[in-house]
Amino acid sequence: MSADPAAIDHVIRARRTNMFVDRERPVAERIITELCELATWAPNHKRTWPWRFASVVGAGRSRLGHVVSNAMAAHGDDPAKVTKALTKYERTPNILIIGSIPGDSDERTAENRDAAAAAAQNLMLAATARGIATYWGSCPKGSHEAVAEFAGFERGTHIAGIFYVGYEATSMETPTRPAPLITRISD
Ligand SMILES: Cc1cc2nc3c(=O)[nH]c(=O)nc-3n(C[C@H](O)[C@H](O)[C@H](O)COP(=O)(O)O)c2cc1C
Repeated sequence: MSADPAAIDHVIRARRTNMFVDRERPVAERIITELCELATWAPNHKRTWPWRFASVVGAGRSRLGHVVSNAMAAHGDDPAKVTKALTKYERTPNILIIGSIPGDSDERTAENRDAAAAAAQNLMLAATARGIATYWGSCPKGSHEAVAEFAGFERGTHIAGIFYVGYEATSMETPTRPAPLITRISD
């Protein structure tokens, strides 16, 4: 199998962490479904299909903010961050939560997390190709359990990220990247 390498390379390089989106134009659920389906083509060891997705729009974003804020407060987080969390998920019209289910051993759980990260990258690249910006946000400390429950994920699901999603309004500057560090071993 071969594809147009120039097109693929362009999308890989064009993906940027970007929250400057059109706040008035939500991404349709049909497209969110398409992105999640493309995410599932990521490799996953033992075919555990470990990723879970939750699409959050409208007032759901504020409910997510409250869930995270309460969990952060219970965890003793900085009060300014706790307050900010109440509204921060309303900055983009769509939020996607990606989770990774626990495996039957620590090793499998780690592999599931790796696979979910690969799925997340698939999703972000597919979004970039459609003019949709993404921003990978970490799930705040102490709120994984509450977010997993909010998202309807299985108990013990690790939250790989809470992704801000929307049609790109302003493109980000492209940073230079350090050259890859490659150890070459032969013969
Ligand atoms: C696992 C993971 C967690 C991340 N969490 C955050 C975060 O909480 N806040 C944030 O600003 N960026 C977060 N990022 C995004 C990085 O900051 C971003 O990828 C980096 O600045 C490089 O920019 P680029 O994605 O445009 O190349 C995260 C990225 C990864 C892979």
